[in-house]
Order: sequence, then C-alpha cells, then structure tokens
Amino acid sequence: MKKVKCYAPATVANVVCGYDILGFAIDQPGDEVVVSFNTHHKTVITKIEGDHGKLPLDAEKNVVGHVVNLFLDKINSKQGVDIELYKKMPLNSGLGSSAASSVGALVAVNELFGNPLTREELLPLSMEGERLASGNAHADNVAPSLLGGLVLIRSYDPLDVVKLPCEMDLHVVSVHPHVDVPTGEARKIIRQQVSLKKAVEQWGNIAGLVAGFCTNDVELIGRSMKDVIIEPIRSMLIPYFAEMKQLSLDHQAIGFGISGSGPSVFALCSSHEQALNIANQLYSFLSSQSIECESLVTKINKQGAIILP
Ligand code: HSE
Repeated sequence: MKKVKCYAPATVANVVCGYDILGFAIDQPGDEVVVSFNTHHKTVITKIEGDHGKLPLDAEKNVVGHVVNLFLDKINSKQGVDIELYKKMPLNSGLGSSAASSVGALVAVNELFGNPLTREELLPLSMEGERLASGNAHADNVAPSLLGGLVLIRSYDPLDVVKLPCEMDLHVVSVHPHVDVPTGEARKIIRQQVSLKKAVEQWGNIAGLVAGFCTNDVELIGRSMKDVIIEPIRSMLIPYFAEMKQLSLDHQAIGFGISGSGPSVFALCSSHEQALNIANQLYSFLSSQSIECESLVTKINKQGAIILP
C-alpha cells in the first residue's frame, strides 16, 4: 500500500507587530503526517504519537482528519484515507502546532492523490484547521508552514497572501516556558478597540519590518520589532517576559517577542553563536526562577512543508 509522509515546519506567527498578518516558518521543530488509502470510504486516524494522549482520534474533531475531509470534498472524492500523526512539538505552545499538523496532512494527502491542488489552493483548507483548533481561521501560521519563509497576509477577504523576500541568514531562538496558553484564550483577552495613535505606531513598525526584510536591513528589522497593541496584554500571561526580552536585547538579539499567541517567545539573531548564547541565557534564567522550559536554536525555514522519502 502506497504511503506518503510529509514534514510540516513550526512557525512564528505575528513576528511581533504583525498580528494575524505576518509569520515565518522555522526549520525545527515540525510535525510528520503519513497518509495512505483505505477501503472504508472514510477518513480514519489510525495513530497519534507525541501528544501525550491529548488529541482526539475522531477524524472530525482532529485538525488532520477535518482538513483531509475538506480536501476530499473539494476534489469530489469518496476515497477513504488513513492518517498517522507524529506530533513533534508541544500543543498550545505558540509554535503553530495545529497549523503544522493541518499543513502536513494536506500536503501529504494532496501528494497521495497526484497533487490535484496547488499550495495556494490548500491554504484556505488549512485555515479551517485553525478555525477548529482555536475558533478563528487565521493564516499566519498555516501560510508560512505551507509556503516557507516569511509570509504576509495582505487581506483575508479576499484572501491575498504574499511571500516576502527573506534572503538573510537569520537565526531564531525559541523558548517554550511550561505554562499553558491556548490560542483561543489568548485571543479573547485582546482589546477590540485601538487608539489611532497606537494604530499609527503599529503601521509604522509593520511597514518598517517588511521594508527591512525586502532590503536586507537588519537594523531596520530590529527597530521595527515593536508591538504596542497586543504584546502589552499577552505578555502578562508569560512569566518573566520583560526580563527575557531585556536579557536577549542585552545580548545583541535583533529583536524579541511572543511567538504566535505564546507562551513561547523568540529572539531573532544574526549569528548562530549569538543565538546559542541567548538560548542558554534564557534557559538558565528561567531555571533560576523555577520555570521549566525548552529552548532551541533554529533558522528561518525557506521551503515550507516537504514530502519525505
Ligand atoms: N495570529 C495568531 C494569534 C497566531 O496571535 O492569535 C496564533 O498562533
């Protein structure tokens, strides 16, 4: 029986100031999804590993089954599909865990059927995975996991997604403090009204960040990694956020912020050595405060989801 395996990378959504409109993929971690045809005429999740028993095996309640069913509807197929999901990252961590699972399932099943859809056509389906997981169909995790690199969602209606240039050799520190912050909850606490003064500041930073990536201007990227709207509120859910930010900037991080909806945080760095040093500093600091965490050093992922041999 033919099996197709896909690796879909984790992501850093928002990139500090671009709430719901910017995200980049990182090389590690990422989920693996294996799909094959079955003879039951329905989608069956046959195995989930790495979730500590937290994810449902019911295909309609799990993002992988849900998006595969949407894919089958879209191509008008009654074929049954078996899915194995290998979670390689913590749930509710801010690393785009549900997005990586949805994207992995869609890219794998698309390959299994001979690629009837383009990656751009898979995007709205993967966004429905986000709706199931968090109550909102945002694209800033799924789009970079599908397409790789840094992605801008210029508009949701109509959906208009732009892959931005991202040529610099940038390194990413990711630290996951062991506190639970479900995305749905982290979205509810955000204020729905923003003052014009703050909106103008935020627009300036978003434009600066995009300009910085387009012109390879690391200092402009650093100056623009500021969020005056979301971070002041969400950072309250993350232990020692201000201290970690200061520590990272004191050790030459280009910028620092919340990864997606948290609780993971990330630092963008110019060199692997700087990134390793910051990862160690943050890990030691949180440990000294009795906060358990994982830290890793990775890079911006340029390819997005890939089919594995
Ligand atoms: N843009 C989304 C949010 C990403 O910040 O809620 C969720 O990971």
